[in-house]
Amino acid sequence: MNILLLGGGGREHALAWKLAQSPLCDRLYAAPGNPGIADHADVVQLDLSDHAAVIGFCQTNAVGLVVVGPEQPLVEGIADSLRAVGIPVFGPGKEAAQLEGSKAFTKAVCDEANIPTAGYARCDSFAEALAALADFGLPVVIKADGLAAGKGVIIAETAEEAHGALEMIFDGAFGAAGARVVIEEFLTGEEASFFALTDGVNVVPFGSAQDHKRVGDGDTGPNTGGMGAYSPATILTPDLEAEVMERMILPTVRTLAARGTPYVGVLYAGLMLTPDGPKLIEYNARFGDPECQVLMMRLEDDLVELLLSVAQGRLASGSARLSDAPAITVVMAANGYPATPDKGAVITLPATGEGVMIFHAGTASQDGDLVSSGGRVLNVTATGRTLAQARADAYLTVDRVAFPGGFCRRDIGWRELARGAH
Ligand code: AMP
Ligand code: GLY
Repeated sequence: MNILLLGGGGREHALAWKLAQSPLCDRLYAAPGNPGIADHADVVQLDLSDHAAVIGFCQTNAVGLVVVGPEQPLVEGIADSLRAVGIPVFGPGKEAAQLEGSKAFTKAVCDEANIPTAGYARCDSFAEALAALADFGLPVVIKADGLAAGKGVIIAETAEEAHGALEMIFDGAFGAAGARVVIEEFLTGEEASFFALTDGVNVVPFGSAQDHKRVGDGDTGPNTGGMGAYSPATILTPDLEAEVMERMILPTVRTLAARGTPYVGVLYAGLMLTPDGPKLIEYNARFGDPECQVLMMRLEDDLVELLLSVAQGRLASGSARLSDAPAITVVMAANGYPATPDKGAVITLPATGEGVMIFHAGTASQDGDLVSSGGRVLNVTATGRTLAQARADAYLTVDRVAFPGGFCRRDIGWRELARGAH
């Protein structure tokens, strides 16, 4: 079967690497892809917002499965357009993708299905939001409703900061994404991510991970898209995972199915493990980046068969097996990230041994050289018998990458190691 993968970051490199290993995969195409993905796929230029062009490409090239990596095309309805012409797609339609596209939408689903989450107010104007603030303590969390490239969440420590954040959002700092805000109670605890695959009816757990969102060691500095991750996150015990499935994932899938807009794809739950139990912080409608990289490193099943069974509505229970061996990924970023990363540094990669992969995120080919072209540039990913072993291998490889002007956190996995994982 021919497969088209949409996206061009580290998440998609990990997916391409795994898809290409399947005996079911004849030709793999990727748009826009990147130089790492090009090792496994034919990279093609397609405007992902031009649905007719994507459909035309699939029909011309007998594509039997489309895998959508990032959220933007999902929220724009690419999966609906493809399904309407009978092309199987891994990824939710526009309405179900509102779980990521609108924080107010997710809160309404939580209300309807009684899902544990932070108390909140949904406000459609500055005046309404100011009035609602009085009902919250400090700190308070202010969120632009729509997609804001990971920048739409402000944790305000003071009333002045909260006013400022609301002013900024309603003044249009995030465009249409900020036409509405959600004000939330501040939750405390450790964060973890949980993934589940669903074809709209059947649901299969797909493991846990922990991201490292701050740019600096010790979780300092500004927020980023994620500076590294490991999987599994053992703080999410089997009991807690079962609770998350029962109280969040299954009710969400059932609610969307009952509305006639079933969720098809991977549901990514961002959790806060509070003293009162796990609470949902947010849903994403796609794999995490860089969490996907560690999940793919652990996946023992055929990814094509798995994603196709999701796309075709025949996901079998117990069908996703992840290795017990932990995996870790260290993001190498360009100086200046997350604000304004330097671009164009020439990178030389070392050979990698068994159990180590260097996934490309923001790289490009230029005159025969590999150069940096984005903020997060490489994801050095390793698996090992223990997390400590995987981590040692990952950093050994990091230290062999020649990337002038690149940096990484040196403490990925610290919480898990502090728990006594060795
Ligand atoms: P989000 O984009 O919704 O994932 O939010 C980004 C980050 O803000 C999360 O990873 C949390 O660290 C933090 N955050 C979001 N909502 C809350 C909340 N209600 N309480 C505490 N922290 C939060
Ligand atoms: N690493 C966080 C995300 O993919 O949203």
